[in-house]
Amino acid sequence: MIDFKEVISKAVSEKIDELSKKEVEELIEIPPNYDLGDYALPCFKMAKIFRKAPNLIAEELVELLDENEYFEKVQNVGPYVNFFVNKEILAKSVLEEIFEKKERFGSQDIGKGKNVIVEFSSPNIAKPFHIGHIRTTVIGNALYKIYKFLGFNTIAINHLGDYGTQFGKLIVAYKKWGDREVIESNPIPELLKLYVKFHEEAEENPELEDEARMWFNKLENGNEEAKSIWQWFRDVSLKEFNRVYEMLNIKFDSYAGESFYSDKMPKVIEMMKEKGILTESRGAEIVDLEPYGMPPALIRKSDGSTLYITRDIAAAIYRKEHYDFYKNVYVVGAEQKLHFDQWRKIIELMGFDWAKDCIHVPFGMVSLEEGTMSTRKGKVVFLEDVLKKAIEKTEDIISKKNPNLKDKRKVAEQVGIGAVVFQELSNNRIKDYVFSWDRTLSFDGETGPYVQYTHARASSLLEKADFKITENVDYSILTNEQAVNVLRLLQQFPKVIVNAMEKNEPSIITRHIVDIAQEFNRFYHDCPIIVEDEKVQKARLLLVYAVKTVIKTGLGLLGVEAPEKM
Ligand code: ARG
Repeated sequence: MIDFKEVISKAVSEKIDELSKKEVEELIEIPPNYDLGDYALPCFKMAKIFRKAPNLIAEELVELLDENEYFEKVQNVGPYVNFFVNKEILAKSVLEEIFEKKERFGSQDIGKGKNVIVEFSSPNIAKPFHIGHIRTTVIGNALYKIYKFLGFNTIAINHLGDYGTQFGKLIVAYKKWGDREVIESNPIPELLKLYVKFHEEAEENPELEDEARMWFNKLENGNEEAKSIWQWFRDVSLKEFNRVYEMLNIKFDSYAGESFYSDKMPKVIEMMKEKGILTESRGAEIVDLEPYGMPPALIRKSDGSTLYITRDIAAAIYRKEHYDFYKNVYVVGAEQKLHFDQWRKIIELMGFDWAKDCIHVPFGMVSLEEGTMSTRKGKVVFLEDVLKKAIEKTEDIISKKNPNLKDKRKVAEQVGIGAVVFQELSNNRIKDYVFSWDRTLSFDGETGPYVQYTHARASSLLEKADFKITENVDYSILTNEQAVNVLRLLQQFPKVIVNAMEKNEPSIITRHIVDIAQEFNRFYHDCPIIVEDEKVQKARLLLVYAVKTVIKTGLGLLGVEAPEKM
C-alpha cells in the first residue's frame, strides 16, 4: 500500500538537502478537515533553516512539487503546504492491498522474536465471577489478539487468585459446616455462603481466626488434607469460570495463579534481604517506600505468611526468567494502581532494569443501570447471567427483525455476546461507565450489532452479486466523496492497530470500525451497488469486499464474531 506520508517526505527531502526524509515525515500533519488536503506540511522549521518567512517557503515548495503524480493538487495556505492525494491512486493502492492480504490486512511482524505477556481476567477462586470482571477479561483478550496480530509471541496468563489467608478461613468453614455434595451442585454461591458464615461466626468466636491462620499455614507447608480441599475449591471454581470463557471464546496459555509462586517466595525474600531493602517492623518484614512517596509494602507477616504483593514480585521474576518478556502487561482495575506502583518500585530497587517493561493497564469501573439485572443470588451480578440475558434479548430482537433467519440461536449468541464485548471496548478504558441494555443491543447506535449488521449487509451484497475477481477495475469510479471517505479509513486501519497496541487501548479499534461502518452506510445509501453498468458494479463491489474484510478483522481483534447473516 502506498504510504503517502513517505511519498511526501521523499519528494520534499530530495528538493531540500538540509532535511532528511525522516525529519520531513515527522513534520507532516493531518489537516483538521479534508478541504485543506489529506496531508499538510508546516514550514516553520524550514523557515528557521533558511531564515525566510514560512509563507514564502511554502510558496516555493509548491512550485517545486507541483509535478508529482501522486497528488492531484499541492497548494499552500499561509505557512502550510497542503497535499491532496490522487484519489484513483488511493483507491487502487488500498483496495489491491486488501484484496491481496484479505483478513491479514493490517497484520505486521513488528513483534517478531519478542515475547509479550498479557495477564488478564484473574478472578479469585471460590468467589463469584461477576460483572466487575468483564472489563479485564475482554480488554485483556483484545490486547492479546492485537499483539499477536502484530507478530509478537503472545502469552495469555490467568493469574488466578487462588492463594492467601482467606483459604484458611474457607477450609475451616468447610470442615465445620460444609457439605461436599451441596457445594458440587452449586459451587460458587455455596462457597460464598460458607465464607460469609465464617465471618459471622468469627465475630462471636475470635478463635476461629487463629484456626484459619493455622490452616493457611498448613496449606503453605504442604499439608495433604489442606492441599486436597484447596485443590478441590480450585477445580470446581475453574469449571465455573471456564463456562464463561467458552461463551466469550477466550483461551489462556497459562493458569499459573498466586499459588503457583508459593514455593518461589523464600528465594525472592532472600534476594530482597541481600539487596538490603527489607526492614523489620514488629516481627513483620516490610519495604520502606517513603522516599518514593508511597506507604510501606508489607512483604511477610509476623506469622511468616506472604502477601498478594509478595506473590506478584515472585511472579514477575519468574516470568522474566521463564519467558524473557519484552513486555509484561497487567490488565487490572485502576483501584490497584498503588499496588502496582509499589510493586514496580520494589522490583526496581531489587536491581532489575526490566521493571520498566512491566506495565499496569488500568481501567475504570462499570456500574449497572437500575433494573439491568435482578440479583436473585444476593447483591452480586454474575457475568454468566449477563451474557445469557444478552443472548435471550438478542434472540427476541432477531426473531422480530428477521424471522426466517437460519441458525437463529447461534446468531443470537454471536450478536448478544458480541454486543456486550463491543460495548465494553467502546469507551476509553480508563473511564467509568454505566452499562445499559438499550445502548448495548441497539442496531443503530455506535454498537456491536450495528457494526455486525453492516458486515452482514456487505456479505449479502457480495453473495448476491457473486463477487469474485478484481482484474481491470476502473478505480476512477471510486473517486467520489462517499467512496473516498471510506477508502481513507481503510487506509488508516494498519496504523490504527499499531496505535491501539502502543496505547494498550482497544477502543481505538472499536471506534475506527464504527467509523468505517458509518461511512460505508453513507456510501451504500448514495451509491447503488448492484447496477446495470458492469464496470461500476465491479468497482463498487470491490469496495464492499474491502469493508467487509476490514470490519471482520477489526471485530476479530476485539474478540467479537462477524456472522455472515443476521
Ligand atoms: N485476583 C485479583 C482480583 O480479583 C486480580 C489479580 C490481578 N493480577 C495481579 N497480578 N495482581 O482483584
